[in-house]
Amino acid sequence: MKRAKISIIGAGNVGATCAHWAAAKELGDIVLLDIPDKEGVAKGKALDLACCGPIERFDSRVTGTSDYADIAGSDIVVVTAGLPRKPGMSRDDLIQTNVKIVKSVSEQIKVHAPDSIVILVSNPLDAMVYTAWKTTGFPTHRIVGQAGALDVARFRAFLAMEIGCSIEDVSALLLGGHGDDMVPLPRLTSVHGVPVTALLSAEKIQACVDRAKVGGGEIVKLMGTSAYYAPASGTIQMVEAMVFDKKRIIPSAAYCEDAFGVAPGAKGAGYFVGVPALLGAGGVEKIIEFELESDEQKLMDESVSHVKDLVEVVRSQFPELA
Ligand code: NAI
Ligand code: 2OP
Repeated sequence: MKRAKISIIGAGNVGATCAHWAAAKELGDIVLLDIPDKEGVAKGKALDLACCGPIERFDSRVTGTSDYADIAGSDIVVVTAGLPRKPGMSRDDLIQTNVKIVKSVSEQIKVHAPDSIVILVSNPLDAMVYTAWKTTGFPTHRIVGQAGALDVARFRAFLAMEIGCSIEDVSALLLGGHGDDMVPLPRLTSVHGVPVTALLSAEKIQACVDRAKVGGGEIVKLMGTSAYYAPASGTIQMVEAMVFDKKRIIPSAAYCEDAFGVAPGAKGAGYFVGVPALLGAGGVEKIIEFELESDEQKLMDESVSHVKDLVEVVRSQFPELA
């Protein structure tokens, strides 16, 4: 049986850490690609990782390159290419530079890995998924963004710290875009089936919600650049669901035409928004929809409206992507 081939574009902090988690979990063979100026970095990190194989006991082949021919035959391509934010910047401040980068990367994916599933990670995430979709022309089930896997993990981690319980027992759901207006859902959050509302006061839950919303910014302030361990971990959770056809339900930026009240825009196209997505060998195989309460729907609408604004910026400044 053929091993999965996973290509990771961008061998920086998130890309290299994705390669690390994917190799440690032996998900398949890994190609780490960066620009020609950073070919040595891609090759060096790949070689360093490959040498962990005997210790960590994985047989994944890990290679570094700047040549897109090397991503041929990829089952999954993860795009982490682009600038990360610095203190004081929002994810949206990256849009100009990163649209250009993600567009050029997507053109290469279209040529060299036309059958792949593409997972976007670059920010601003919701605009980058749209850019990759428009550029590749891939069917919507093969284009998806990583944000919710990370954001919900942060929410779960903060709740577990507050409750003093194992994170394994905290189950939560989160919707919306990858911005400070993401929508954690306390109503659907439980600790091994016990509603979180029975375990924490409304104020403490709200503090965890608020911390999850700005969790990325908290780390940028501490480190001077953006997070990469949990972002990469969330991304590889999605890759694993696809490689092993696990049919996991993971909040992901998936294409919606009417789910959760996401109405199509003027051009009749839907939007990629964070929703519970069933991920398997086919990519996004299904969106798990359910009815939101009116206050939740209001928050979702606000978050979706921000996603739409970002897409409008892309459309107006890059007419070829309209
Ligand atoms: P980084 O600066 O460490 O790495 C980015 C890499 O992309 C660099 O090695 C750079 O040379 C490469 N790159 C730039 N242009 C390229 C091109 N045309 N082709 C191939 N590679 C190219 O940045 P980091 O920390 O890895 O972040 C990467 C992106 O991921 C940023 O946009 C960041 O905001 C985003 N991010 C998204 C998260 C999410 O949850 N969606 C979480 C964390 C980061
Ligand atoms: C994060 O949430 C910056 O999107 C990145 O950490």
